[in-house]
Amino acid sequence: MPKSLSLFEQDLAATLEKRKAKGRYRPLYPPHELNNTIDFGSTDVMHLSASGALRREFLQELERNPGFQVGSKGSRLIDGNNQYVVDLEEYLADFHKAETALFFNSGFEANIAVFTTLPQPGDVIVYDEFVHASAIDGMRHTRAASIQMFKHNDMKSFKEVLQKVKTLFPDVREGRRSVFIAIESLYSMDGDYSPVHQVLSAAKEYFPLGNIVFCIDEAHTSGIIGPNGSGFICHYGLEHEFAIRIHTFGKAPSSHVAAIVMGSPRVKDTLANYARNFIYSTGPSFPSLACVKAGYKILSSPDGEERRKRLPVLTAYFLQCFFKHPVWEQIKGNGTIYIPNPGKYVSNGLVSPIIPLITKNKAYNLRAWLLREGINAWGVAYPVVPKGEDRVRVVIHSDNTRPQIERLVDVIMQWALEQKNIPEVKSQL
Ligand SMILES: Cc1ncc(COP(=O)(O)O)c(C=O)c1O
Repeated sequence: MPKSLSLFEQDLAATLEKRKAKGRYRPLYPPHELNNTIDFGSTDVMHLSASGALRREFLQELERNPGFQVGSKGSRLIDGNNQYVVDLEEYLADFHKAETALFFNSGFEANIAVFTTLPQPGDVIVYDEFVHASAIDGMRHTRAASIQMFKHNDMKSFKEVLQKVKTLFPDVREGRRSVFIAIESLYSMDGDYSPVHQVLSAAKEYFPLGNIVFCIDEAHTSGIIGPNGSGFICHYGLEHEFAIRIHTFGKAPSSHVAAIVMGSPRVKDTLANYARNFIYSTGPSFPSLACVKAGYKILSSPDGEERRKRLPVLTAYFLQCFFKHPVWEQIKGNGTIYIPNPGKYVSNGLVSPIIPLITKNKAYNLRAWLLREGINAWGVAYPVVPKGEDRVRVVIHSDNTRPQIERLVDVIMQWALEQKNIPEVKSQL
């Protein structure tokens, strides 16, 4: 380490070195490395962005609003409120069959706002262990009396936690304080859906007095599920059950960072009055809002419908190619690579375009191998996923072609056959 570094810089360098030694260092990925690669990695699930469809619609939205001002000019509570954002919130609430919607500059901010603001002192939050980091961060600063985690999508664990809350928190048990249940629709690391009907009925069985606040983050189902892509809750017609719904736009709707929180007028007012990251932050600029509007226009167009329809077909095709590949028969017993519960990715009218390839701590190795073959899919390692479950996350996109999928599977299988001879790779690079 150069001696001329200040103490502060030396501290940072030492911390980064430690991270590198653990193989957990994350470089900002050089964009040129992804040039001309086949996309099985990005969150642009419907390829609205990559296809240019979003750019075209966005430019039209600009034309429909001649004279727009680029900047928002302040926080929403002062100069940053304008007719366009007010109208867009109404449009989005309508689209998702909610009473109101409030715009946030990102899904991360939306979750922070929800969990720091809405649970009141004495309330309890019960959450699935795999909810997004932003929900966890929000809960770390919540005013709720307690936060309680249950094992991912595990009804036995969920009921045990509900029973614990019932025993330990008489105010919640007797309906004087609320219990928040925080889940996601589709979990991004495993590609599995919440067993939402079971969650609803178990929670009501333990807390029958009407003091449950169901809260769902639809980041990974916005745009791809439900009528016009309105989401998982709209797919099942459960809008009335969820007091709080979060839709982010960073995935299918526009792969553009921003989000809405939907709920009653009281939910909206409370967030606007108490969420510090809403109050003390500049409101969204016109280009951000217009991009969201453009994405939603495509979602509800015939092009959007076609793109949505292709996802389950292509996802099923990937699984078929994988499990029918001649190499699979040779390697399936040795644990080099596997896809957990293959039946769950396309079932009951739902699709998960996220498919984890679990690789026994060789995720970065497979990721590097794919990249050399011109394919982009990201490796995810501990601590983002549990130890021993490092994985490459394959994301199927609406514009992926069958030959691209066949090639992806061929390359995966070549790796699985040869990976013993390949040196270990310790990071995404
Ligand atoms: C479930 C979930 N919620 C929230 C977020 C954060 O959304 P954003 O990217 O808009 O900050 C993400 C992003 O990865 C997510 O997967």
